Amino acid sequence: MLLTDKRVVLIGGKGGVGKTTVSAALAVLATKRNKKVLLVSTDPAHSLADAFGQTTIGDKITRLAPNLDVLELDPDQEVEQHLARVTAQLKRYTRPEMFSEIERQMRLTRQSPGAQEAALLERIAQTIELGLAEYDLVIFDTAPTGHTLRLLSLPEAMAAWTQGLLNANKRSAKLGEVLGHLTPKAGRDITNPLGDPAEHATDGMDERNKALTETLLKRQRLLTRTRELLLDHEKTALLFVLTPEKLPILETGRAVTTLLAEKLPLAGLVVNRILPDTADGSFLAQRRQQEKIHLAQIAHDFKNLTQFNIPLQATDIQGMLALTHFAGLLDLAGIK
Ligand SMILES: Nc1ncnc2c1ncn2[C@@H]1O[C@H](COP(=O)(O)OP(=O)(O)OP(=O)(O)O)[C@@H](O)[C@H]1O
Ligand SMILES: [Mg+2]
Repeated sequence: MLLTDKRVVLIGGKGGVGKTTVSAALAVLATKRNKKVLLVSTDPAHSLADAFGQTTIGDKITRLAPNLDVLELDPDQEVEQHLARVTAQLKRYTRPEMFSEIERQMRLTRQSPGAQEAALLERIAQTIELGLAEYDLVIFDTAPTGHTLRLLSLPEAMAAWTQGLLNANKRSAKLGEVLGHLTPKAGRDITNPLGDPAEHATDGMDERNKALTETLLKRQRLLTRTRELLLDHEKTALLFVLTPEKLPILETGRAVTTLLAEKLPLAGLVVNRILPDTADGSFLAQRRQQEKIHLAQIAHDFKNLTQFNIPLQATDIQGMLALTHFAGLLDLAGIK
């Protein structure tokens, strides 16, 4: 019961297969079932605004219908804000001579691979918490990649944030001590790396170190809660979109393997853009022939997953009317 029972639904899939369309239409369908929905995107292209035919949505909750709010997070902006926060915090704990070094570190961090994901992580976690408090259902257009999800479960999530601190501040032995307390050591229990962040972690510390420790613990606990929620099969579902074509099938195969290995609650596949029987002409007949083979492949490769089939439409899906029609197709396909 995707829309009835779950609190968080994440839509994954290869580029261009219809993730944004499916997310937006799912949100519309959920409101038809009297759910209050928050729809969130992390696509820098602001595709939700396009799908709904709005000029802007952006990084503020925007109401599109009585029970439908949307939010577009901007990864670049998240990186900037995240680094600004970290820089400000670092400066509170270091001597002014170190400031230029901190700023240099932050410039490097901005360009490092994974910076966007690391920065987005905390924001996604906060958005989920807000969503749980104020909405029945939170839908994410574009599920976090396997890599982002691993950030939630690995000690590196903390390390990424604290490493810069340690490097910029090697001479502050005391700070190193604090972080050593919090940053899990290599080889530490990976199944529960963030568990039990020492209840008495701040005992015996001075006020400055206490404040820093509290901030880090807060982040640690937030990420732990998010990770638990995303792995909770009762509350969370991941829906994967693909088209009946060779490359999307191959990529979905790999993604499904990764997601299942991470024990994520994969709820099913949306097979989008299936040629309808009414599409005529010899060209389409040939295309349908090819498609049959791919559909058989999908049925075979993913036989353990529920499959929702959506036909190719004659026109693009844009605006509330078209999305409402598409929501009807999801309903017909059996999404509960
Ligand atoms: N069943 C369908 N029939 C016809 N057009 C469709 C269908 N599904 C999606 N589209 C159209 O295909 C285009 C791509 O869809 P969409 O933007 O939802 O894909 P996406 O997976 O979100 O892409 P990206 O990876 O770039 O975010 C859009 O113009 C959309 O209107
Ligand atoms: Mg999209």
